[in-house]
Amino acid sequence: MLTAAELGALLHPPLRALVLESVDSTNTALMRMAATGAAEGTVLLAQAQTAGRGQRGRDFYSPAGCGIYMSLLLRPKMPPEDVLAITPAAAVAAAQAVEAATGRRADIKWVNDIQIDGKKVCGILTEAASSSGTLDCAVCGIGINLFPPLGGYPEALRDRAGALFDAYPGDERTAALAADVLNRLWELCSLLPARDFLDEYRARSVLTGRSVTVNGRGEGVVEGIDRDFSLLIRFGNGETAALRSASELKPE
Ligand code: BTN
Repeated sequence: MLTAAELGALLHPPLRALVLESVDSTNTALMRMAATGAAEGTVLLAQAQTAGRGQRGRDFYSPAGCGIYMSLLLRPKMPPEDVLAITPAAAVAAAQAVEAATGRRADIKWVNDIQIDGKKVCGILTEAASSSGTLDCAVCGIGINLFPPLGGYPEALRDRAGALFDAYPGDERTAALAADVLNRLWELCSLLPARDFLDEYRARSVLTGRSVTVNGRGEGVVEGIDRDFSLLIRFGNGETAALRSASELKPE
């Protein structure tokens, strides 16, 4: 099992790692720690999650040892609305690190999925706590499918889920990949609200040029990603829309 010492040795200051065998959700647990004063840069990684969470209240399948399930605590001095840039920053960080680790092209499916050959290999969930209009903290959670569980993914995920490797790549490569994602993410977040990674996000976006169905509005073509990371759609009648959340799209 990957240890906190192994991971911590690869992290750039002020990042520091805690590793647990199992936890409900690294996002939930780190948010609890944030409420009692955990420092910015704290990373919580677990071998398994019993209640891993995804976007829109979905579960995130997190079987023991098959993935990297980790969260990073940020205390950025920014207006709460700028928090929306953290997930795209994490998507760029994860895509670059996954590509470096596997040698395979990693695409971004707006807004928070990393795909290889059309299969989702990584998901991101950023959550924030604020009081009186001021951001207290943000927790950015990243789940990476390292290798498929024995017997494969559950039926409901089988068509969509993929993994980086066929088998466990070993603690050393796992720690290196986790650290690479976290170091890149920290670097990008420390530059916010600058969005130097916007072009990289756009270049990796697989939805651009594709037809999608927008709930309540019908079919349109994705024209690109706006500066605020909304998805720009043009409909057949010439009307346009800028979507803020993937929940506005009909699932494929
Ligand atoms: C999604 O694909 O909808 C987002 C998935 C995010 C999963 C990660 S795993 C680490 C962190 N803890 C959670 O409960 N969720 C995130």
